[in-house]
Amino acid sequence: MIILGIETSCDDTAAAVLRDGHEIMSNVISSQEAYHAKYGGIVPEIASRRHQENIIPVISEALERAGVTLDGIDGISVTKGPGLAGSLLVGLNVAKAIAYSRTLPLIGINHLEGHLLAPHLAGEVPMPNVTLVVSGGHTNLYHVQGIGSYSLLGGTRDDAAGEAFDKVAKMLNLGYPGGVVIDRLAAEGDPEAIRFPRPMLKDENHEFSFSGLKTAVRNYIVACGLETITAEHLHNLAASFQEAVVEILVKKTIRAARQLGVNALAVCGGVACNSRLRAHMQEQGSAAGLEVLLPPPVLCTDNAAMIALAGFHRISRGEVSSFPFDLNASSRLPL
Ligand code: KG4
Ligand code: ZN
Repeated sequence: MIILGIETSCDDTAAAVLRDGHEIMSNVISSQEAYHAKYGGIVPEIASRRHQENIIPVISEALERAGVTLDGIDGISVTKGPGLAGSLLVGLNVAKAIAYSRTLPLIGINHLEGHLLAPHLAGEVPMPNVTLVVSGGHTNLYHVQGIGSYSLLGGTRDDAAGEAFDKVAKMLNLGYPGGVVIDRLAAEGDPEAIRFPRPMLKDENHEFSFSGLKTAVRNYIVACGLETITAEHLHNLAASFQEAVVEILVKKTIRAARQLGVNALAVCGGVACNSRLRAHMQEQGSAAGLEVLLPPPVLCTDNAAMIALAGFHRISRGEVSSFPFDLNASSRLPL
């Protein structure tokens, strides 16, 4: 079964072709970063307009790279939420139009289910497991019992981890999105140089909070004076902030895995690209006797292959949207 996946929930226009739930025939992502960077964050109106311009060329390229035409597609899988309503609607409407004109099954997918399943595109994933979805919009821990069977253990009470990375980067005038810049600067810094708080680290629940940490960094920058921060100081600041986030994510994920008695943990979502997070999760997870699954970065950030995979499983179970043309975008859609 060949599925065309379409993802437009945020600022990446993405399409992918997936064969039989494992072979990524193509995975095309058109980033809008350059259009939003000067505003220091995503401008929803610009995002939806760019999606409109990009979506057809991106789908065409995905089909071309996969070496198929629409005649070879067996089903369409599209993100229906959560995300920016105006962005989601672009992908949804194109998906509906293709499904209608080709009489193809159409399934709407929760973006978070896509992220959760991304590790499966990189190899065998033991189940049950604990999976951390850590992105610009979410920081959620799930107990994954099987494909389609997820229990949310806890999420963030305020900012997502990626949002904290982006906001700290903005305070330091490092541009948008900031996670990758902080990661790079931190590589040359001392993670113990500044002791930032680790909110909710000791709490015996599976929830997170990053807004207090972000404020602590802001207060620190104000106290020093941004203009006095030297390159070395900046590296130490980035490394120390990153260390606080990483310690919280690693310890709470491993603790959840132990409490639930699973043998494996997985990390996905854009922040799963972070090199320190990957290294520490791998090292400390293995030391705790857990198999640690970290998909390659291209499958951690937003992509349509993960949406196609979620759609593949749902369509295989006969779960198509029965009134596909009523399918609507949901900016808030829990999983
Ligand atoms: O999954 P994603 O592409 O989009 C959302 O669904 O949010 O995640 C984007 C987030 C941004 O906040 C970005 O700063 C963060 O992932 N990110 C990183 C790194 N690469 C991307 N954060 C820390 N270190 C990185 N290397
Ligand atoms: Zn995402």
